[in-house]
Amino acid sequence: MDFDQVDDAISQRVQAMKKRLGDLRKADLYYYNLPVQELRGGSRVIVNGQEMGMYASYSYLGLVGHPRINAAAIKAIENFGSGTHGVRTLAGSLTIHKELEETIAEFKGTEAAITYSSGYATNLSVISSLVGRGDYVISDKLNHASIVDGCLMSGAKFIRFRHNDMEALHDRLKQIPEGASKLLVADAVFSMDGDIIDFPKLVELCQSYNAWLMIDEAHSLGVLGKTGRGIEEYFGMEGTIDIKMGTLSKTIPSVGGYIAGKFDLIDYLRHVSRAYIFSAALPPAQAAAANEAFKVILDEPWRIEKLTANTKHFIQGLQERGFDTMLTETAIVPVLCGSDEVAFTMTGVAHHNGIFVLPVVSPAVPPGLARLRATVTASHEPDEIDYALNVIEKAGRSVGLIQ
Ligand SMILES: Cc1ncc(COP(=O)(O)O)c(C=O)c1O
Repeated sequence: MDFDQVDDAISQRVQAMKKRLGDLRKADLYYYNLPVQELRGGSRVIVNGQEMGMYASYSYLGLVGHPRINAAAIKAIENFGSGTHGVRTLAGSLTIHKELEETIAEFKGTEAAITYSSGYATNLSVISSLVGRGDYVISDKLNHASIVDGCLMSGAKFIRFRHNDMEALHDRLKQIPEGASKLLVADAVFSMDGDIIDFPKLVELCQSYNAWLMIDEAHSLGVLGKTGRGIEEYFGMEGTIDIKMGTLSKTIPSVGGYIAGKFDLIDYLRHVSRAYIFSAALPPAQAAAANEAFKVILDEPWRIEKLTANTKHFIQGLQERGFDTMLTETAIVPVLCGSDEVAFTMTGVAHHNGIFVLPVVSPAVPPGLARLRATVTASHEPDEIDYALNVIEKAGRSVGLIQ
């Protein structure tokens, strides 16, 4: 069947997207899925043949391409090959999976850990394994899509509260019938805005209302806390999260997701969560790379200090130039543009001047809050950051966003 010959809802959806993408491509404003051809050190990439400063990376500590991590991946391929024989439950769990899970548990200060083949699959599968019909799942309005999808899939009553608003959360908790099972899920650092959840108040509310607490540390692992262990360390509140979720695709330069927690929780998930039971495990190279990366974080603490200094430098530089960086305190730095058009045009100017940064527009963020979503990492040098700031300033002036 051809989409322009059938007039049903599926066709209309596909055609609407085709038009939106076609308009952007015609105006030369389509910047997604660009071919990154090569990594040049930690902070530069070759895109479409042009060398650019990388400001769209989640490799917050600059670990992608680290020689120790690369070597561990190569050795794992030599020992185990490139695949895993299939599902761990039936095809055998590789020793490198066990090692990785022990490393994660130790790093996160828990009894045990389990890994999945992506962070997305982790949230989907774990939330829907823990709650179901008759239960309540409570989620911050700006939580990542994988959390939202996990909540919807679970069949539990899905309650959302205004972003990072603890009074709104309190109101919601009060409305839940006493005795009902409750799971509260939140990002530690929000992926589009870079702000940090009000963790002390969140923990207090969970404890008073007997809600289980699950925190997604996709953007806080390696970023928050003196040793990069995440939000509990940042607030000095170790041992307060029941279900510690994280990804292996950001600070940890691999792929995959994990849950760390009590042994009973992990054993339950290992025998119930469908993304573990019905999906192949992490490839050996990726498991070994992730395992080594946790060790590098501990061996090279200067990376966390440098990331913190670079983050301050970048945010301050943008604010001094008159940009609105919203409420970010972390390495995810939104540069508020307002309209999609301004965001796309500024992206063009940035790319033209050798800065690789991408626009985020509706529906990923609310209409009118389009932005450049820039990230800074431990690989950037201060003079590189100054150059990026000057380019973004030039882009902002070109559209009249700043004077
Ligand atoms: C907060 C958050 N959770 C989960 C995920 C999914 O992780 P992954 O990309 O490892 O599937 C992301 C990805 O961007 C994220 O930002």
